[in-house]
Amino acid sequence: MQREQRTFIAVKPDGVKRGLVGEIIKRFENRGFKLIGLKMLDVTPEMAERHYGEHKGKPFYDRLIEYIQSGPIVAMVWKGYDCIAGCRQIMGATRPLEAQVGTIRADFALVKEYNVVHGSDSEESAEREIAIYFDEKEICDEYDNMAEIVIEKLDD
Ligand code: RTP
Ligand code: MG
Repeated sequence: MQREQRTFIAVKPDGVKRGLVGEIIKRFENRGFKLIGLKMLDVTPEMAERHYGEHKGKPFYDRLIEYIQSGPIVAMVWKGYDCIAGCRQIMGATRPLEAQVGTIRADFALVKEYNVVHGSDSEESAEREIAIYFDEKEICDEYDNMAEIVIEKLDD
């Protein structure tokens, strides 16, 4: 069974503008996940289309492409046990009213269109999204942290 996963997380432009970068990073760190990639960047039109290609043709697509380019994002790669589902749990549901209180989107977002954070929804999309934003050389996985201690203990 694959216990250790990587996922792509981004603080979206509204999260950056509202000064929520530290708060968002803290929540994934608190859980025990391992931060292995981090950068701030402006998303290009090509990156936006690659990232959100699955939504092409939907009524909100153009607005989504515009939104993700409306300011810099903070792009991250996180790693850990069940990291994809775990990060999505910490983020909460797309619509803030459906997100559980205590999740990022319930605590910091008002509407689904501006929901401050992105997280991959499967191993396939995680690897696809990581490749849009990171060169493997930029990923720093050579240190021990909580995520690895947990996984090591499980394998005993
Ligand atoms: P994300 O990909 O950003 O982590 O969000 P998600 O999985 O919870 O939601 P998804 O269905 O993948 O939608 C991607 C992003 O598009 C915007 N959205 N707008 N107007 C709308 O109906 C609508 N639906 C989605 C949100 O910014 C959502 O996070
Ligand atoms: Mg999604």
